Amino acid sequence: MPKGFTLWFTGLSGSGKSTLANAVAQELQKQGRLIDLLDGDVVRQHLSKGLGFSKEDRDTNIRRIGFVAHLITRHGGVAITAAISPYRAIRDENRKLIGDFVEVYAKCPIEECEKRDVKGLYKKAREAVAAGKGMQFTGVDDPYEEPSKAEIVVDTSTCTVQDGVKIILDALNKLGYLEAGAAAGDDHRAHHEYVPDELLKKAEAAFKKAGKVHTDVLLKELHIGFSTAAHVIDKLAEQGKVSFKG
Ligand SMILES: Nc1ncnc2c1ncn2[C@@H]1O[C@H](COP(=O)(O)OP(=O)(O)OP(=O)(O)O)[C@@H](O)[C@H]1O
Ligand SMILES: [Mg+2]
Repeated sequence: MPKGFTLWFTGLSGSGKSTLANAVAQELQKQGRLIDLLDGDVVRQHLSKGLGFSKEDRDTNIRRIGFVAHLITRHGGVAITAAISPYRAIRDENRKLIGDFVEVYAKCPIEECEKRDVKGLYKKAREAVAAGKGMQFTGVDDPYEEPSKAEIVVDTSTCTVQDGVKIILDALNKLGYLEAGAAAGDDHRAHHEYVPDELLKKAEAAFKKAGKVHTDVLLKELHIGFSTAAHVIDKLAEQGKVSFKG
């Protein structure tokens, strides 16, 4: 059995932590891993009930999540955390405590998070600030400190959830946290994914124009995510329309 680890998501509200955490949890479950998902909202209803959003309370909340993640990790489980965890120093404290700690930055511009406003909290926070009250809402009237050494960065404003999951699983595989072959199984499924003909045509044209076959060309020209780009190349290769040189 591969060793335990903590997958620590951080990012603004609405950046996609819970969405990605749940999707990755499902994939790891299929691989037979024991998983505990410590999501910010649920933690605040139980483990951290009564804590508010002052710097001190936020730090206590994140330290508690870190402590539980540490227990899960040292018993061979996978702890997946999905709290905003805005302060770098406390995340780094947990990194030190846990050891097998993989930080995932769900990176998304605040404008996009605010547009999504999944919980309607940005609107509330802006109104509170306008009324001169404030709400200590991360990104609006409370700070968010970006990670400086996250093992994984997922830019959720430019990729699909599926792309994000692939990026995370590939990275976990490279870091040695997955069963050998688990990520290859993922690739295998990717071959059967549907790719629209229109996209294949555009990709073929983009490769012709660029004079090379590379995922970079598709990322730049077609604004699609890495995993979609990889599927497109696979499909074109299957159809004998492109071939890799070197
Ligand atoms: N590539 C992506 N990855 C994750 N989420 C995405 C992506 N693209 C779009 N979304 C959407 O963005 C929203 C993210 O909401 P989610 O609840 O996961 O955020 P969160 O980071 O958990 O926020 P909070 O801190 O408030 O709990 C969802 O509606 C999701 O469908
Ligand atoms: Mg969430």
